[in-house]
Amino acid sequence: MEHPDVLLDEVELRAVVDRLAAELSAEYDDGVVMVAVLRGSVPFLADLVRAMTIRATVDFVSLSPYTPGTGRVRFVMDASTNLEGRQVVIVEDIVDTGLTSAFLLGEFARRSPATLSLCTLIDRPARRVVPVEIGHTGLQIEDRFVIGYGLDFEGRYRNAKCVAAADLDVLSADPDAYVEALYCA
Ligand code: PRP
Repeated sequence: MEHPDVLLDEVELRAVVDRLAAELSAEYDDGVVMVAVLRGSVPFLADLVRAMTIRATVDFVSLSPYTPGTGRVRFVMDASTNLEGRQVVIVEDIVDTGLTSAFLLGEFARRSPATLSLCTLIDRPARRVVPVEIGHTGLQIEDRFVIGYGLDFEGRYRNAKCVAAADLDVLSADPDAYVEALYCA
């Protein structure tokens, strides 16, 4: 059986999410708008907002994958909330190149929110192409491929209960290589 290297198990994830929720709850007044980037941030968003102790609304965006080389990102689905005058937090599962977050921060800034910041579960700075200011980070990791808790390989593993570093060669040979270890433990 192939075993991934667990970076955050269920207990550690709970602690990270609780810390971020406490930070956000202390930083913002009531009425923060949490805008999650589909699809990877869904498990994180769901746990994060339930751990927060202030009123929060949720919204979602869906973005096209950026084109390699140009870094062009565009909306497939925009948020429906009017962000003008609101306290807005973008919720990401991971910040890599920073292109997705930089695009969203730029787009949302033009909508005149009262405040705008970025909260990510995972920060992988080794892959950064554009600088991005991250307000709240769950865990900074080295340049390793990660799956679980929203993070996928070809759509798989998003519903695994932990975040784990996986071997891309192993996954390329067998995309289901970590199913037994992550779901049958
Ligand atoms: C991932 C992740 C972020 C983005 C970060 O999304 O969820 O949105 O990439 O990468 P960047 O910093 O290099 O822009 P992905 O396009 O894989 O879609 P998914 O969430 O549906 O898996």
